[in-house]
Amino acid sequence: MVMPAITGSGVFTPPEVITNEELVETFNAYAEAFNTRHAAEIAAGEIEAKGLSSPEFIVNASGIERRHVMDKTGVLNPEVMHPLLRQRSDDEPGIMAEMAMAACAEALDQAGRDASEIDLIICAASNHERPYPAVAIEIQQLLGAGGFAFDMNVACSSATFGIQAAADMIRGGGARRALVVSPEICSGHLEWRDRDCHFIFGDVCTAMVIEAAEEANGPHFVIRSTRCATQFSNNIRNNNGFLRRARPDGVADRRDMQFMQEGRRVFKEVLPMVSSHILAHLEAEKVTSDELRRLWLHQANKAMNDFIGRKVLGRVPSADEQPNILQDYANTSSAGSIIAFSKYSDDLAPGDQGLICSFGAGYSVGSVLVERAPGP
Ligand code: COA
Repeated sequence: MVMPAITGSGVFTPPEVITNEELVETFNAYAEAFNTRHAAEIAAGEIEAKGLSSPEFIVNASGIERRHVMDKTGVLNPEVMHPLLRQRSDDEPGIMAEMAMAACAEALDQAGRDASEIDLIICAASNHERPYPAVAIEIQQLLGAGGFAFDMNVACSSATFGIQAAADMIRGGGARRALVVSPEICSGHLEWRDRDCHFIFGDVCTAMVIEAAEEANGPHFVIRSTRCATQFSNNIRNNNGFLRRARPDGVADRRDMQFMQEGRRVFKEVLPMVSSHILAHLEAEKVTSDELRRLWLHQANKAMNDFIGRKVLGRVPSADEQPNILQDYANTSSAGSIIAFSKYSDDLAPGDQGLICSFGAGYSVGSVLVERAPGP
């Protein structure tokens, strides 16, 4: 039987960085200006004053210290507070496809493959810049890849669901060699003026080459098995879509077309779902927690990851067993666990097993059990 394997991975990290301190300075300038402007209504009890944010709250609540973004100028301008991304003409590469180029080049280089050898591209991300033509097909064309390509969206679980789709197609013969690409421009769907979530997200792009283990050109990770699950919830939601229009009174209200969450409820409901999902996956594969060398978890919140790690391993995982990257990247949606994998997997020895796991809106959870194999 064909055993699919991850033979290369790559990360494009946008060069612009926003620290918690810079972010809070902008937010507080905005909040203070709002409160001054609405002093009379606030005094009359008609509207609520905006509370201030703080770097200490952010780092304590989330573990996030900074994030990379595609444009910090707009985000950090208290009069703008969203990325100012140039509108491109239809004849130029889109921004997601452009981000994908660097991540794919790194993944292909690691796999020792040329783009022309790829016959499946899945652009798996939380937000796509347009419905069609698929961003994945644009990436296919820019890379000079063959075969076919399509977009998929399972929010924060897009990349692991994409890996499952690619691995199954390679196993079944529908494709020979795949790229699963996750360009995440989370800065574009975040409300940077909402104190409860303004610190959560960052931008990045990851890519993975998946092909039959027997075709690998070098060291690789055999995909032993994948497991995906979903369960409907409104607690993380984005109402943007082609049927959404401005409010009938003409007021520009885009808040419900951006990321919204009931953070506390997500915390409470997703944690048991994820830890029992991972434990059931391991049990089905007859892998004990002690045999798991590393966990590459979704990167949304440090306390969440600590909890899941403790449940799965039965003890507090060391940083080596469960590396976090969210302090540097924030939540990068589906790309988070893949960044962790890409940056912290080279040191695993042949025979070492690890688990990639992402979770989020839907709710959705996807896990990928891998085993390090030596090169041919
Ligand atoms: N600065 C200062 N205070 C803040 C603040 C900020 N930036 N944001 C919120 N607060 C206040 C709140 O108003 C609240 O005040 P109150 O107790 O007077 O009501 C208090 O701090 C606690 O807020 P809360 O939202 O309950 O914090 P939390 O500890 O739950 O952390 C999240 C918030 C979002 C970091 C956390 O809930 C979380 O990570 N949830 C899951 C996120 C997730 O995985 N989402 C999936 C997305 S893909």
